[in-house]
Amino acid sequence: MSDCYAWFNEAKFGMFLHWGLYSLLGLGEQIMFRGHLKPSDYRKLAARFTAPNYDAHEWARMARAAGMNYMVLTSKHHDGYCLFDSPGWDFCAPRTAPGRDLIAEYVEGCRAAGLRVGIYYSLQDWAFPVMFDGPDADPDKLERLVQKVHSDVRALCSNYGKIDLMWFDGHWPLHEAWRTVEIDDIIRELQPECMITGDRLHGAPSRFPDSPFARNERPGYIASSERRIVASEVKVPWEVCDVNQHRWWGYVKHDRHYRTGTELIYLLGEALGAGANLLLNFGPMGDGAFPQRAREQLEDLGRFTERNAEAIYGSSGANGLFEHLAIGDMTRKGETLYLWARYWQGESYHFAGLKNNIKRARVLGRDDIDVTVERDGDHIYLRGLPELPPDPAVTILAIDCEGEPEATDWGPYRLHGGAYDMRVWSEWIRS
Ligand code: GLC
Repeated sequence: MSDCYAWFNEAKFGMFLHWGLYSLLGLGEQIMFRGHLKPSDYRKLAARFTAPNYDAHEWARMARAAGMNYMVLTSKHHDGYCLFDSPGWDFCAPRTAPGRDLIAEYVEGCRAAGLRVGIYYSLQDWAFPVMFDGPDADPDKLERLVQKVHSDVRALCSNYGKIDLMWFDGHWPLHEAWRTVEIDDIIRELQPECMITGDRLHGAPSRFPDSPFARNERPGYIASSERRIVASEVKVPWEVCDVNQHRWWGYVKHDRHYRTGTELIYLLGEALGAGANLLLNFGPMGDGAFPQRAREQLEDLGRFTERNAEAIYGSSGANGLFEHLAIGDMTRKGETLYLWARYWQGESYHFAGLKNNIKRARVLGRDDIDVTVERDGDHIYLRGLPELPPDPAVTILAIDCEGEPEATDWGPYRLHGGAYDMRVWSEWIRS
């Protein structure tokens, strides 16, 4: 088996998409449950979901232009509506208003743009009353739901050619009921190179310590961290997913808080600096079009990723190597360290804590700018920089080192395993 992680480790940045019937209401992907809508009323939305402006090729081109290398789309969210041809199930796009398989178009769009294909699938399904009545109310109905989930996964892994990532959600509240080891087996059988969000399929490792993910038994698992940057205890490649707006993942019409380009660039730096990928979510509107402000966010990201590609793709996280001005993130590749500078200092940039001799330092850009390096003990000064940062959000400084980047032995930082403690610091200063 080839290294199934190779593309993921290179890709670093992906687009997450939540799109379904709920997008017509513009109140997030969970409106059926959170708004106490009657399932029979909610189902009526399927007649209005004609997806006239859905153009998967265009979505994929926008993602590509923003510097993203893979996509993950909700094939079925908790509401139970399937964008694909779900065997024996009418509440799906081919048998309602769209009259076609929207996942088939999505997969084609990804491939045409050179993106890797990820499919989100929610285990829990609010179209089944057993979800609300509890697992003991009717074991036969529960079994029907579990069988459907297994048959959906089989269909998704059979009908669209190569799938690169199966991304799960909704393990709660039924947990054990899903028989996730069998689901895992189906994927391995049909898509041997496919990666799986192990924690989201099998549940959190702290809670399900005997799962194949917790024991890291099979290659191809990734871990995911939702709206926070916390690595899994299971040491596998990992991904942070987060939203482009304020809270929800599906389209929210009246949400005024679209994160600024700068905030999204910070988020990218924080995820990559921690060693994760970033899967950044967008919620297209009910008709399939992207909100204008989302398009602008993607354009901002595209400008940034284009000029800083070297520090992004195939990089590893270097946050914690030393403290880079309290908040600047760091990535690295081979012998080069990349400082993601948020706080520009004018023509000279000072930082402290890097041990290596420096061969060369550059400001990344369409044409890199070479700068001079001066060292005074622990202190490094990069000189000859532009007075204003070439990118007002984050400008990246590439430091080509002799050998792999290493930290100096700066007392307080080392003593405390990379975190400050003012008492340790003051003792060190006085010693
Ligand atoms: C949560 C939510 C869900 C969303 C997901 C994305 O688990 O239940 O609505 O799809 O996060 O990671």
